[in-house]
Amino acid sequence: MPPSKNFTLALLFCFSLILLNSYASAIKVSHDGRSITIDGKPRILLSGSIHYPRSTPEMWPELIKKSKEGGLDAIETYVFWNAHAPVRRQYDFTGNLDLIKFIKTAQDAGLYVVLRIGPYVCAEWNYGGLPVWLHNLPGCQIRTANDVFMNEMKNFTTMIVDMAKREKLFASQGGPIIMAQIENEYGDVEWWYGAAGKVYRDWCANFAESLNVGVPWIMCQQNDAPDPMINTCNGYYCDQFTPKPNYPKMWTENWTGWFKSWGASDPYRTAEDLAFAVAKFFQFGGTFQNYYMYHGGTNFGRVAAGYITTSYDYNAPLDEYGALNQPKWGHLKQLHETLKSMEYTLTHGNITATDLGNNVTTTVYATEESSSCFLCNSDYKLDANISFRGTNYFVPAWSVSILPDCKTEAYNTAKVNTQTTVKVKRNNKAEDEPQSLHWTWRPENIDETKILGKGEVVVNHLMEQKEAANDESDYLWYMTSVDLKKDDPIWGKNNITLRINGTGCILHAYVNGEHIGSDQAARNFERNVTLKDGRNIISLLSATTGFSNYGGGYDLQPAGILGPVVLVGQNGDDESVIKDLSGHKWSYKVGLHGLTNKLFSSEKATKWSSENLPVNTTMTWYKTTFKAPLGTDPVVVDLQGLGKGNAWVNGHSIGRYWPSFLAKTDGCSDECDYRGKYESKKCNSKCGEPTQRWYHIPRSFMRDDDENTLVLFEEFGGDPSLVKFQTIAVGSVCANAYENNTLELACDGRSISAIKFASFGNPQGTCGSFKNGTSFTKGTCDGSNALSIIQKECVGKEKCSIDVSGDKFDSTNCGDIVKRLAVEAVC
Ligand code: GAL
Repeated sequence: MPPSKNFTLALLFCFSLILLNSYASAIKVSHDGRSITIDGKPRILLSGSIHYPRSTPEMWPELIKKSKEGGLDAIETYVFWNAHAPVRRQYDFTGNLDLIKFIKTAQDAGLYVVLRIGPYVCAEWNYGGLPVWLHNLPGCQIRTANDVFMNEMKNFTTMIVDMAKREKLFASQGGPIIMAQIENEYGDVEWWYGAAGKVYRDWCANFAESLNVGVPWIMCQQNDAPDPMINTCNGYYCDQFTPKPNYPKMWTENWTGWFKSWGASDPYRTAEDLAFAVAKFFQFGGTFQNYYMYHGGTNFGRVAAGYITTSYDYNAPLDEYGALNQPKWGHLKQLHETLKSMEYTLTHGNITATDLGNNVTTTVYATEESSSCFLCNSDYKLDANISFRGTNYFVPAWSVSILPDCKTEAYNTAKVNTQTTVKVKRNNKAEDEPQSLHWTWRPENIDETKILGKGEVVVNHLMEQKEAANDESDYLWYMTSVDLKKDDPIWGKNNITLRINGTGCILHAYVNGEHIGSDQAARNFERNVTLKDGRNIISLLSATTGFSNYGGGYDLQPAGILGPVVLVGQNGDDESVIKDLSGHKWSYKVGLHGLTNKLFSSEKATKWSSENLPVNTTMTWYKTTFKAPLGTDPVVVDLQGLGKGNAWVNGHSIGRYWPSFLAKTDGCSDECDYRGKYESKKCNSKCGEPTQRWYHIPRSFMRDDDENTLVLFEEFGGDPSLVKFQTIAVGSVCANAYENNTLELACDGRSISAIKFASFGNPQGTCGSFKNGTSFTKGTCDGSNALSIIQKECVGKEKCSIDVSGDKFDSTNCGDIVKRLAVEAVC
């Protein structure tokens, strides 16, 4: 029987729906020489970097939601080649490496994505994101015109692009990806590669174009980017950046703070300065701006580059755990709203900039219908009173006032109306810790290596660590023996010393099974040794903390022990006797027994002892069980008392730990003035404290209903008795709001329990997130009813919103000043 007419019509309808779905929604991303345009509409785009492997898929929706609420249009991420392909042509896109799921999470929230494929990415990521196997691939030279490298880069990049295309993720296919990046800041290092660098740059551009993604490609920090590649700027300030002629002005990395290295203090960039940089960028013609990082996150496992901490918090608007870093997040959100309200004039207006001297510049964006204005005071000391179009404006030093209608100041970068949150750590309420933690332990079995010197590979020279270990582990044993006869001249007077020239990695040295010393960044290691007649075994354990990630030829920086390794003694005539062991037969072993045997895995049934728990003992494994802290607040483990090693929760690595590495004692400041150029050494804190004491355990690593396992591999020696699990929550909030603004107080889901301080007038002091513990005091003018009003409006509530107006608050003795309301509330 032939199909009925109705049935055929229904079938046709379905087909056309399918067709519509796959083709109709293509989005055209381009530029008009001034702005990025989406479907022909010139845009002001605000974006933020979130690196998917630095959090967990369970965290992504919330991170992206908070990005959207913060006023972002797009999420920028790199793609991490070495994480996806630890072994050549074997790929992992599961768990927090599920790139496609991450992009779709952004898409579902209605955000765009800027995909920085690299695949060299820098990013304080191990080896800059390139797999170490590339280094060991015969004939391969990294980031230059080298066929072996270009072929591998082509292979991986094409695979990523194809994956995204299959899922219709490019805007040209209706997806969220509006731009893609090839390479990363190559322009900064191109000189190092000579003529071949230019060939490689051109190849990158041609290759990227050949992939036909249908969206613009960018090359950051690449002034000579071949057309049609868009050259973009990275840095703390990019308002003075000049794009290529007739290209849009774009900022791919606005550094919201800075990363941290082991032994360094805590970087802090103020909300005022960050907002100043962004406002100035748009005042001077910017169209796209991205915060690097918007959420920094955590370097789980072994992903951190050399000597980079496990925390990659970055002092970003969202903190390491994904909570709002206030006032940064909120101050930027208000800036974004203001800028967005002016999108039309900023992208269409005629621009008139006027230099008023004294570092003051005004800019007018005028269209026939409306105008928007910026008043910028770049002086880092002097406030300015600017007379502009017949009105006087007070513009504090190092700030920009934004007047969306060229009349009323809607935003000033130095006037922060958002609350500051002060976070507190609370002990695990699920149990009474640390008393209740019962530890068991096992020694790392190093007899074969330290006593017998037995490895897996033997060669007659010292090997570079990347070449010997291929990044399979942080650890590499170098073992050799030396035969000394009774009449050897080295048995002279005094001691014999062992001297090792290292490359700055961690070194543990053993002679005949005895530990003779360790160094946390060995370059010139020297220790006295006791040797015996006959055969002596020398075993050296080299440990890396990730490989370097930046600079021309960074990939060639050596790791491990390159030597010389020598024994030095004196003969009877006081002359030095040197025995060079570098060319001896060296035996190598990659990794540790406990790692190979997966002692960190909770499923593994191995013998652990609860007797005589050792402390301050090198090469020791510790294990305990714990109950997950109640609630939903982020969880950290305090590893105070421990030395250095790696930690696992239920088999998931939470990263390298190293609380015994104290931050240097100099370079911290008591005050943090937002005025003046920021650089990573300005406004640092926590000098002399453990570089990182608390380590993030994502909730998804833990089980609710069962016992959780924490395993530590302790390399230097430590004491686990102080280890405890804690949650992080907002403890108090404080805020400052100027007259005619709204002040919002919120305890992140908890209720406000008390008001500690309130004053309307000219309150003094700061309540800073730079250093906790600072507080406000009353100024010379203070109305009497502020405290009672705020108590009434806020106590017992999760959030409250107060209109700050002179009508409501009395301020009898204030005279003609701009008044502020300062409040501190307890959560
Ligand atoms: C940039 C680089 C980023 C990151 C940043 C510092 O030069 O492009 O990947 O390394 O520096 O955090």
